[in-house]
Amino acid sequence: MIVVLASGGTIAGTAASAAAHTGYRAGALGVAELLAAVPPLAGQAIEAETVAQMDSCDMDHATWAALAIRVRFHLARAEVAGVVLTHGTDTLEETAFFLQRTVAAVKPVVLTAAMRPATALSPDGPQNLFDAVSVARAPGARGVLAVLGGRIIGAGDLRKVHGYRVDAFDAGDAGALGLLADGELQLHRAWPEPDGRAAVVLDRPPQSWPRVAVVLSHAGVEATLLDAAVAAGLDGVVIAGTGNGTVHARLLEAARRAELAGLTVWRASRCWLGGVVGDGGPVPAAGALTPVQARVALMLELASRG
Ligand code: SIN
Repeated sequence: MIVVLASGGTIAGTAASAAAHTGYRAGALGVAELLAAVPPLAGQAIEAETVAQMDSCDMDHATWAALAIRVRFHLARAEVAGVVLTHGTDTLEETAFFLQRTVAAVKPVVLTAAMRPATALSPDGPQNLFDAVSVARAPGARGVLAVLGGRIIGAGDLRKVHGYRVDAFDAGDAGALGLLADGELQLHRAWPEPDGRAAVVLDRPPQSWPRVAVVLSHAGVEATLLDAAVAAGLDGVVIAGTGNGTVHARLLEAARRAELAGLTVWRASRCWLGGVVGDGGPVPAAGALTPVQARVALMLELASRG
């Protein structure tokens, strides 16, 4: 049995015309309609549940908590081999990373999405959903994964690199874990180890989770936003630094003020690929994580400190 959870996104989006790839309503369709668009799944042992019908640009911590709790519930059922989650592409890398850290995925948890709405002449959603179910059924599969465009990408390596192209995701320097060719799974590397190290956050109401923001370092940057984070009582800030995680001198001064006020400050790289190499420097580095993944990691670390 595979459980398909739906949370919205373009994969469940509808537009006024088959030619429209923008201006659609994300999350308009429920999970039954998504499955009905994939005839080869008919008759397969699949249980479906709509958890949310949202545009993932509006993703919030309460929905993350609900998704993690439903995923954990289904994974614990002996008859369930894996869980598929349909989601928007815009915050897919954040949700995938959050689930990796909060769910010990000893069975596969496969996120999938689409860049074109379900009403498009040639939508990418049905094939992606079919592939995601195939991966969730694969013997030995485990970990939190994303399946898009025939590629299988580990949650920690996933990043959205294009705002419009169907081929919108990259697997960073690690590369894809594998691919689906003619429906056959070809694995390049071992499945990721189950994680779930931050599951404790699910015991707390999402409204009480640590508040962490991302501030971008750029030419001419002012310290205003970082100082505002301190004034607003945030718990942490990730600076999306330039290049290999370098930070404008004005932001570094503000980071010192923030640390003195009790905030935890990390730095990541605003480059699409590569992260931060080396952990020297004035502010702790978030390694290979994208700034938005680093925000999740810092939030969960602060939560686990109590
Ligand atoms: C969304 O992220 O929910 C909308 C955009 C998409 O799925 O491509």
